[in-house]
Amino acid sequence: MGESGKGRACMAEQRERYAAITGWGHYVPEHVLTNADLERMVATNNEWIMSRTGIRERRVAAPDETTATLGSNAARKALAVARLEPTDLDLIIVATATPDYYFPSTACVVQSLLGVTRIPAFDIGAACSGFIYALGTATQFIRTGVYSRILVIGAETLTRLTDYTDRRTCVLFGDGAGAVVLEATDQPRGLLSLTLGADGSGGRLLKAPGGGSTLPVTREMLDQRGQYMTMEGSEVFKFAVRTMGDAAIEVIARAGMHFREIDMLIPHQANLRIIEATAKRLDLPRDKVWVNIDRYGNTSAATIPISLSEAADQGALRDGANLLLVAFGGGLTWGASVIRWGRGGEGEKT
Ligand code: ACO
Repeated sequence: MGESGKGRACMAEQRERYAAITGWGHYVPEHVLTNADLERMVATNNEWIMSRTGIRERRVAAPDETTATLGSNAARKALAVARLEPTDLDLIIVATATPDYYFPSTACVVQSLLGVTRIPAFDIGAACSGFIYALGTATQFIRTGVYSRILVIGAETLTRLTDYTDRRTCVLFGDGAGAVVLEATDQPRGLLSLTLGADGSGGRLLKAPGGGSTLPVTREMLDQRGQYMTMEGSEVFKFAVRTMGDAAIEVIARAGMHFREIDMLIPHQANLRIIEATAKRLDLPRDKVWVNIDRYGNTSAATIPISLSEAADQGALRDGANLLLVAFGGGLTWGASVIRWGRGGEGEKT
């Protein structure tokens, strides 16, 4: 190879690798649980639920549906949009707080449902922040050149951990899944900046205490309803309002941007009032905020990929749009990222 050839090879080696979102999909179960249905189950009412949370209805998985089946349904749609086969993938990551089993991981179950073998597959547990943790993890694998095509799923069956005798929690949660395909490119697309955080000292505020090594499954644990989620709602609310705003501001600064450059906020959908407080702090108008909590409630790690997929399907995301993703959840955890939407022209797959 002559001098100039060597120079070109060197330039090519230094070209930056990005992880563009080239496919998206979501799936929610058919069964709808409305506020009117809940009024017949616990002492609550539509007016309270709508005014305190913004939730009108949520989806509930059928008995034969699991987190992995919801996730693989979303994944098939994402692969179709990316025009890829499952066999084209290098890695599968599933963010979930409601896995099918302790083991095998939900990602391994998804891999099997998609009919692929051998490629690595693992779960990430960061509760409602899980999708941002997973997106950040997948992007590192692509940027470092280890993998080139990764499926990232956020999937949950939270209704299986929901105590339908507890009005403080049962109105909030629903089931669903969203998925994206990330592909390596030299175009500045995909994740541009990331911030993740955790505060384990706040773990008691939001937990599913039973079934793990602390409180294994026993008759006594079940009698105490230990298998269900518990939550200190107003404490979590205060934490969420503070953290969502702080994480958003930090990640926009890390991207070297101003609030005005954000085209769409895609927030974790836990409570409409938390979403509105975050948008207000960032001075973002309502038409720049994706909201679907009214139809799905809180689907934990699935809220952001479901929202991304809906927004993309409805043509709300132009190529090159700057999206702000921000979430908080049990752990306590939080995460935010600025991503640039689209493939960015033909570019080169690196
Ligand atoms: N229907 C009617 N009344 C209710 C209901 C209900 N479903 N739930 C609670 N109440 C009552 C309470 O008992 C209380 O009554 P009291 O004053 O007589 O004791 C009153 O309403 C006020 O209760 P608060 O808990 O103070 O109500 P708040 O305005 O804080 O709203 C809510 C509660 C909606 C849970 C809110 O605190 C919230 O959204 N918190 C954040 C929850 C969240 O985002 N969790 C994330 C989980 S994600 C994950 O990682 C799984």
